[in-house]
Amino acid sequence: MKILAVSDKEDIQLQDFILKKSSTFKDLDFIISCGDLAKNYLEFLVDSLKKEFFFVEGNHPLLHKCESKHYLDKIVTKVYEKDDHFIIGGVNLHARLEIYGDYIIVGFEGSMRYNPGKFQFSEKEMSAIVNKIEDKIRIKNFIDFILRRKKKKIIVVSHAPIAGVHDKEDLCHRGFKCFEKFLKKFKPLIWFHGHVHYEGQMNEQISKVDKTLVVNVYGFHIVNIVDDKIEIISNIKNFSNL
Ligand SMILES: [Fe+2]
Repeated sequence: MKILAVSDKEDIQLQDFILKKSSTFKDLDFIISCGDLAKNYLEFLVDSLKKEFFFVEGNHPLLHKCESKHYLDKIVTKVYEKDDHFIIGGVNLHARLEIYGDYIIVGFEGSMRYNPGKFQFSEKEMSAIVNKIEDKIRIKNFIDFILRRKKKKIIVVSHAPIAGVHDKEDLCHRGFKCFEKFLKKFKPLIWFHGHVHYEGQMNEQISKVDKTLVVNVYGFHIVNIVDDKIEIISNIKNFSNL
């Protein structure tokens, strides 16, 4: 399975590559956004690649309209509608469980509460949402067990990081402890998050935590999953490797 994950930063090189060689992405299964991206950037990706789209909102919802000439003329549909589904079929994953083939995809929007703005949660508020998702996963796993179906692997999409993994000490960028508990209990295959921008010379932030690969998407990552083997491309120059 191949996923294009985007978050937090519009990537000109990715846009250029898609405009020149969108056919290279024809075997992509879906696009994931971890939030804090311009509406028309997402529209460009979905319109160009014509793939299913799953997203969570960041703490800066409906962010600035990106004005790069690279893709403004490519917009043909409006992506955002309300806070639920996109007109073109994108799915807001927040507090939702979606089934995609052998995978369960769940999502958590926003960040730790640091002011009265939208899409912010206290640890207690997010913990209540995580608990509901845990119950839904248990029910799904139980049904699959009874029907002797293969147990599904879990993919998590959050805007905020997990406590202690890629997070920072300030309240805004602090990770959620309930995410850490969820990871230890359910051992997702992969956890995509955004919100934390790289500093210095770092060009990627990917960590193995227990059995889960935690990817700070910042920009974009192309992820290829074959069984439990995961290959990740974070630079378009390396795209031919997949
Ligand atoms: Fe953010």
